[in-house]
Amino acid sequence: MSNEGQLRLDWAREHMPVCSMISERFRKEKPFSGIRISMALHVEAKTGILALLMREGGGEISLASCNPLSSDDSVVEALRDNYHLDVHAKKGIDEETYYRYLNSVLDIKPQLVVDDGGDLVKLLHTTREESSGEVIGGNEETTTGVVRLRAMERDGVLKFPMFNVNDANMKHLFDNRYGTGQSTLDGFMHSTNLLIAGKNVVVAGYGYCGRGIASRMRGMGGIVTVTEIDPVKAVEARMDGFNVSTMNRAIREADIVVTATGMKNVISYDDMLVAKEGAVLCNSGHFNNEIAVGELQRKAMSVKQVRNEVKRYRLDNGNSVDVISDGRLVNLASGQGHPVEIMDMSFAIQALAAEYLVKHHGDMESKVYEVPREIDNEVAMIKLRSLGIKLDNLSSEQLEYMNSWKEGT
Ligand code: NAD
Ligand code: ADE
Repeated sequence: MSNEGQLRLDWAREHMPVCSMISERFRKEKPFSGIRISMALHVEAKTGILALLMREGGGEISLASCNPLSSDDSVVEALRDNYHLDVHAKKGIDEETYYRYLNSVLDIKPQLVVDDGGDLVKLLHTTREESSGEVIGGNEETTTGVVRLRAMERDGVLKFPMFNVNDANMKHLFDNRYGTGQSTLDGFMHSTNLLIAGKNVVVAGYGYCGRGIASRMRGMGGIVTVTEIDPVKAVEARMDGFNVSTMNRAIREADIVVTATGMKNVISYDDMLVAKEGAVLCNSGHFNNEIAVGELQRKAMSVKQVRNEVKRYRLDNGNSVDVISDGRLVNLASGQGHPVEIMDMSFAIQALAAEYLVKHHGDMESKVYEVPREIDNEVAMIKLRSLGIKLDNLSSEQLEYMNSWKEGT
């Protein structure tokens, strides 16, 4: 019996009003009755609530972690012991165990898949093709996973419809921005216990995550420089009041560097060679290739564990850099993931998109689909209700005005 994990689950549930309201309906209507659902997500408390919600809706669930470092072992234990959920996850597993766990959740021969980052869906299209026969569709949680799905669609290999949960407004506008903004700082502070105020902070990428991180770093007193490859985003960062530069220039003065791009080698080994002595490097993008950790491990003269989650690499020119959690996403590997209220909205989208797939998969093709606007609005309305916030409604006169081209003023 895991008390700590149970407390975390109870706390999460208490602060997830949107999922709770959906759960009430799912318990009655059982939209997933008898449906086998394989999930690969960051296995921590909020994810536990989603998995239980899908089971309350009648689904047979098998859950694995989508990252070797992001599991909360106390929650895994509670889900197994207290709820008898089929969970395959442990913090700190090696690559082989990671894939063994992902393969295990496919043994149930899923009808629905819920993925975060695309590794589970990739297996269903490669080594585990034989387990894809009954899949009616699935959901993808994050930007990087959607990029991979679009490439599969473009290559004509995607075998079933997939919802792009990431781009639902009630997901990325809050999760990627405010969620990653807050939880990245949480992961950085937890793993280093260092001050942000007065430090030079470089944020690579000014997409939804980067914007959130840059604004929160500034809020903590950091002097923030953004790096980008997209000219429009670079102008946006500049107009938002940030310095904009290249990584190779900015890193020379940086005390802290955070990547959030979905791109590989954003901090290259050459960048590290010119970095300010002792710069702390971390990543919030999905994969651990945004910082060239592999090359760093091969080329560094020495490596020393300087905190539980921080390694110091001495380079061949005598310079040193500190890397948090081996460059794995810092908010989950060294933090607790996004705030609960954020995941409440993201996972509400997951649950309703999965319900939609069950009802409508017969009319859907093997493509990447945007989540229907009604689902976004439903989640927003439940969220507003939970906050006790009411909206104005257009009067019939206003509706008529909106639809008319004759009326002037
Ligand atoms: P996005 O597409 O909105 O933004 C990415 C930005 O990075 C773009 O503006 C792009 O131009 C820029 N970029 C690409 N290559 C670059 C480079 N070499 N240097 C500088 N900038 C570069 O994506 P997003 O939603 O912000 O997601 C970013 C990453 O974070 C993805 O991998 C996503 O899956 C992940 N993500 C992580 C979490 C988390 O909890 N840590 C949450 C959501 C998304
Ligand atoms: N917790 C569970 N899933 C998460 C995600 N995709 N991002 C941040 N925190 C999470």
